[in-house]
Amino acid sequence: MARKEHSKRERADLVRFGVSIEPELLERFDRALAEVRYSCRSEAIRDLIRERLAERRLAQERTEAIATLTLVYDHEHHHIAEELTRRQHDRHAEVVSTVHIHLDRHRCLEVLILRGRAGRIQKFADELIGVKGVKHGRLTITTAED
Ligand code: NI
Repeated sequence: MARKEHSKRERADLVRFGVSIEPELLERFDRALAEVRYSCRSEAIRDLIRERLAERRLAQERTEAIATLTLVYDHEHHHIAEELTRRQHDRHAEVVSTVHIHLDRHRCLEVLILRGRAGRIQKFADELIGVKGVKHGRLTITTAED
């Protein structure tokens, strides 16, 4: 990733805001930045935001999409397994397949293959990622049309 410079004009247009973050997470983020040679945290965060917004734009389209959703969660968290299963049954037509792997004594990895309208897939993924106890969630979505 090439370093990006900002003109004075661009700087004047920037808005500053505070972010609360766990020290350990910030440390890992900084290590990742060093690997891809970002000039500063701000630029990396801006790129992450742009990337997510671009993904969401695709997802809002009414195209037929195919997607994988990766979830990591602690199965001992209050009723989480039942909650995730119930929500998947509610959307059974869109859940093509699931794989469940027990990562260690506590954590589970679940990968779902989803198919349907891009907007609906995105919304469903947001719901699952938003379930309390889900530690990590990532949707990779692409069009299923020619
Ligand atoms: Ni498990």
